[in-house]
Amino acid sequence: MNKKIKKLDGKTAIITGSSNGIGKGIALLFGREGANVIVNYSKSESKALEVVSEIERSGSRTMAVKADVSKVEDVKKLIGTCLDSFGRIDILVNNAGILSFGQIEEISDEVLKRVFEVNVFGTFYCCREVVPVMKKQNYGKIVNISSISGQRGDNTTAPVYGASKGAMSVLTKSLARQLGPFGINVNAVAPHAVITPMMDYWDDAKRKQVAQSLPVRRLGTPEDVAVATLFLSQDESNFITGQIINVNGGFLMDS
Ligand SMILES: NC(=O)c1ccc[n+]([C@@H]2O[C@H](COP(=O)([O-])OP(=O)(O)OC[C@H]3O[C@@H](n4cnc5c(N)ncnc54)[C@H](O)[C@@H]3O)[C@@H](O)[C@H]2O)c1
Repeated sequence: MNKKIKKLDGKTAIITGSSNGIGKGIALLFGREGANVIVNYSKSESKALEVVSEIERSGSRTMAVKADVSKVEDVKKLIGTCLDSFGRIDILVNNAGILSFGQIEEISDEVLKRVFEVNVFGTFYCCREVVPVMKKQNYGKIVNISSISGQRGDNTTAPVYGASKGAMSVLTKSLARQLGPFGINVNAVAPHAVITPMMDYWDDAKRKQVAQSLPVRRLGTPEDVAVATLFLSQDESNFITGQIINVNGGFLMDS
């Protein structure tokens, strides 16, 4: 009988903020595809351990690591734990993120600071710690989970969240230029309308209305984002770097 070829066999991946939502979807898919998976969480250990159990059932090695990506020391610990356990880091998915709302006059310094600390600084810190490891390996895949609001802005979540995601998308392109010569690909995925805990603020009427407005006539799932992330994390996509892949049901067709 033919054994199914797993797309990430032997690879080691860190997925930040992967105890629920899109990050969980990516962690589970990567586990099914044979990767060793670090499930990072900042608060809910029990949810992270559920993800770990599910990955173990699929036959892959995995562990949960607590780290707030906005804290340099936590990020160093996260990367160090991965290296101690698996000896290398092939894939980094910067998925951890927070959302904020409000008109510009209403946004406090604290909210402005926190959204950038998690979404931008967190992504930056994880890349800064992982890049020397990937350079030594002459191999690496970094995928940043950005957002459609980083491309077009957004009425509800603008201006802070969109600005942070715009920063992530441009960071993606700059790092792709710097790191291409070292065998490191850096890309982003820009989701929209994916049903996760982050989207709890959309009631049923809003969900229906958004689904009807999309060419594909449905909302997205974490798995929809996970398959794009998997594609950008596997060797077949080695010629693709500095790209922002839209996963948005056709809502925005350019970038
Ligand atoms: N759901 C969507 O439609 C959508 C659209 C565009 C972009 N995104 C992006 O996708 C990513 C995942 O979002 P989601 O929809 O799954 O939301 P979510 O709230 O379910 O997941 C976000 C995860 O990040 C974790 N996190 C938050 N702050 C952290 C920190 N400081 N350190 C470590 N982990 C932290 C949370 O605990 C959570 O597990 C986010 O970056 C989000 O901006 C989502």
